[in-house]
Amino acid sequence: MGTPIIAGNWKMFKTVGEAVNFVSELAVRVAGIKGVEMVVCPPFTALAAVAGQLRDQGAGIALGAQNMYWEDEGAYTGEVAPGMLKEIGCRYVILGHSERRQYFGETDAVVNKKVHAALAHELIPIVCVGERLEERESGNTEEVVRRQVEGSLAELTARQAAAGLVVAYEPVWAIGTGRTASAADAQQVNKFIRGLLRNLFGEAAAQAVRIQYGGSVKPGNTAELMAQPDIDGALVGGASLEVDSFTDIIKNAVVGY
Ligand code: PGA
Repeated sequence: MGTPIIAGNWKMFKTVGEAVNFVSELAVRVAGIKGVEMVVCPPFTALAAVAGQLRDQGAGIALGAQNMYWEDEGAYTGEVAPGMLKEIGCRYVILGHSERRQYFGETDAVVNKKVHAALAHELIPIVCVGERLEERESGNTEEVVRRQVEGSLAELTARQAAAGLVVAYEPVWAIGTGRTASAADAQQVNKFIRGLLRNLFGEAAAQAVRIQYGGSVKPGNTAELMAQPDIDGALVGGASLEVDSFTDIIKNAVVGY
């Protein structure tokens, strides 16, 4: 279905200068590559400068933020509003990343408010779900993923789901650990998520939603992951921080998909 979407989640890495240098080099390296949607998600501080650089180079790389608040504006010290991200050229926003859930107490209800706010501002949410190691080992992966998907996407319409929504399956035990889920295991959960989406939104919308895999994606495992029928892209952390590895992941995604 369509083209794979490869997003780099830079987390709390890169100064403005480093981020701008990175994308100016990346734009050169990926010029002419077709059949893949590319996204970079720098920290808030670098978003505006990276947006300008991408525009200047006509890079064909989209911009995403890593988080946002759900209110339009107000007395919420330290938070960033959806309209602010939209204004500087963000197309995507990562919501409910496991690090947000784990360290900043984000619940499915919080993620759900953010999803609705993002869509209201025409930002495309990349909604992250995934089980922790003890949940997998106790056989609860599907139950956990079901709760997160249904909670995070509550009250969405099929039309909203079909209009570009991205879900990222990121098993927590695979994030930053070098321990990638096997392609078969990732496919199994992504397929399960597709089924949940089908129940929620119907077949057409379920097929339109792009379901990424994330967790220690590297150049060497990208093609096999992308070849799975229900894996429509990757959310890449560590390996998106180096131009070489991120470029190779993008190229291998095209080959594998
Ligand atoms: P990783 O991170 O690729 O470094 O495992 C993925 C993520 O957290 O989105």
